[in-house]
Amino acid sequence: MIDNNHIDKVYGNLVNGEWVLSKSNQTFDIISPVDRSLVGKIQLISKNEIDNIIANSKEAQKSWKDTPVSERAKILSKAADILEDNIEFLSKILEVEIAKDTDSAISEIRRTADFIRFTANEGMHIQGETIGADNFPGYKKNKISFVTRVPLGIVLAISPFNYPINLSASKIAPALMAGNSVILKPPTQGSISALYLAQVFHIAGLPKGVLNTVTGKGSEIGDYLISHPDINFINFTGSTNVGKHIAKIAEMVPMMMELGGKDAAIVLADADLKMTAKNIVAGAYSYSGQRCTAVKRVLVVNEIADELVKMIKSEINQLKVGNPANGIQITPLINIEAADFVQELIDDAIAKGAKLITGNIREGNLIYPTLLDHITTDMRIAWEEPFGPVLPIIRVNDIEEAILIANKSEYGLQSSVFTQNINNAFMIASKLEVGTVQINNKTERGPDHFPFLGVKSSGMGTQGIRYSIEAMSRPKAIVLNFDI
Ligand code: NAP
Ligand code: G3H
Repeated sequence: MIDNNHIDKVYGNLVNGEWVLSKSNQTFDIISPVDRSLVGKIQLISKNEIDNIIANSKEAQKSWKDTPVSERAKILSKAADILEDNIEFLSKILEVEIAKDTDSAISEIRRTADFIRFTANEGMHIQGETIGADNFPGYKKNKISFVTRVPLGIVLAISPFNYPINLSASKIAPALMAGNSVILKPPTQGSISALYLAQVFHIAGLPKGVLNTVTGKGSEIGDYLISHPDINFINFTGSTNVGKHIAKIAEMVPMMMELGGKDAAIVLADADLKMTAKNIVAGAYSYSGQRCTAVKRVLVVNEIADELVKMIKSEINQLKVGNPANGIQITPLINIEAADFVQELIDDAIAKGAKLITGNIREGNLIYPTLLDHITTDMRIAWEEPFGPVLPIIRVNDIEEAILIANKSEYGLQSSVFTQNINNAFMIASKLEVGTVQINNKTERGPDHFPFLGVKSSGMGTQGIRYSIEAMSRPKAIVLNFDI
C-alpha cells in the first residue's frame, strides 16, 4: 500500500522529496461531490513558495538530465507497478473526490500504469540522427550534423478534474523520460488523487525535486506560475476559456493544450444501428459525459432518425444512476454549478421546441441521462459543451448538411462516422475539421500511443506517447566540419 502523505486529512505538497505544508497556513477543503463529506484539506501556497519550488525544480533538473535514460525508465516502470498494486485504494479516492464511477476509476488507474510503462519503453527508443550536408545544393561532404534530443528544462503540468491521475501522468511521464523536471499543478477538485500519483513517483525512487507539486486555486496562482520566467514548457489540459487565457499571457513559452470539444457522431442511412446506438450511448454518457471526447451531438440523416432515437433511448434505459458503486454509470457531476449549467442548456433547448425523449430529472448535482431530439441550430446545446449527461440529436437531410454543421463548431477534437460504406466514411473523414475521425466507433482518446490532438478551439500540439516526448524535448545539433 502506498504511504499516506497526510495527517488528519491535511495534504502537503511534494517539494524536494518531502511533504510540506504551506507557511501561509492557508488550506482549502476538498468536499466530496458524492455526499458533501470532507475528503481532505490541501495547501493554498503563496507566490513566495512558488518561487522556491521553481528554483528547486531548476536545480534538480541539472542532474536528472544527465541520469541515463535506462535509469529513468526503471523508475517509471516501478511507478507503474506501484500504481497498479494500489488500484483499489486509488480508485476509492477517485470515487469520493471526483465522483467517478467504479469501473471508470479502475480503468483510469490501470490505463495510467500502462501509459507510464509504455512511456518508459518508448523513451528508450527516442534517438537522434546524423545528417550529411551534400544533399543540399552547393554543399560538399565536409559537414555532418549530429542531432540529439535534449530536454527543455522545467515542464509545468496543469491537469483537469475529470482525469486527475491519468491526465497528470500523461504529462509527467513523457516529460521525465525526456529529461525535464516537472511541476504539477493539479485541479483543485482532484488534487488529492493527483498528490497520490506524485507519491507513487516519489516512492518509485524519483530523485528529490524532479517532480514537485503546487496546489492552490488556478484563478489565484495560475497566472503567476504560467508567467514565471523559469518555466520552459506548459502542458495544459482543461477548458478552452482557461487555455486561451494561458496562451495570451504565456508569451513565447512553448505549450501544448488539450481543450474542450463538441464531438459529433454522424450517422448515415446504411449504418449498423444497434452497434451505433451502443457506441453513442457509451460515448456520450460514460463518467456522466464529463470527458473531452464524449459524443456531444448526433447528426443523423432523416430517414433513420426515428429508429436510431428509439434504440438510443432503449440503451439509455439500461444505464444505472446513483453514487459511485459497482455497476453504476451515471454519478453526480463535479459540483452544483456544473449541474446548473447542464440544466440551463436542457431548459433552453426545451423552451425552443426540442423534444425530450428521456431524462431531465435532477437531484442536486446528479442529472439523469437526458436525450433531446429535434435540436435546431438556434439552441445553445447545438454548439456548447455541456460536460454532463445530455445528448442532442440534430436531424439532417444529407451528408453535406452533416459535414456543414459538424464543421461549424468552434471545436475540432474528434468526430465519428457510422456507415457501412467505406468510401463515404473516408470522404466525410477527409472533410471534417478535427484531430481524429473514428469510423464505426465512439469518439475516444485511446490507445494512448495514437496521436491525440484538437484543432480550432480544441487545442494545439499533439499528445500521444512518442509525440509527447518529442514535444517536451528539442533537437540539439552539433556540426562537425572537416577537410576532405
Ligand atoms: P478548467 O477549469 O479549465 O481547469 C483546468 C486546470 O486549469 C485546473 O487545474 C485549474 O485549476 C487550472 N486553472 C484554472 N485557471 C487557471 C489559470 N488562470 N492559470 C493556470 N491554470 C488555471 O477545466 P476543468 O473544469 O478542470 O476540465 C474540464 C474541461 O477540460 C472541459 O472543457 C474538457 O473538455 C476539457 N478537457 C479537455 C481534454 C482534452 O484532451 N482535450 C481532456 C480533459 C478535459 P483549478 O482547478 O484550481 O481551477
Ligand atoms: O477527457 C479527456 C480525456 O483525455 C479523454 O479520454 O476518451 O479515454 O475518455 P477518453
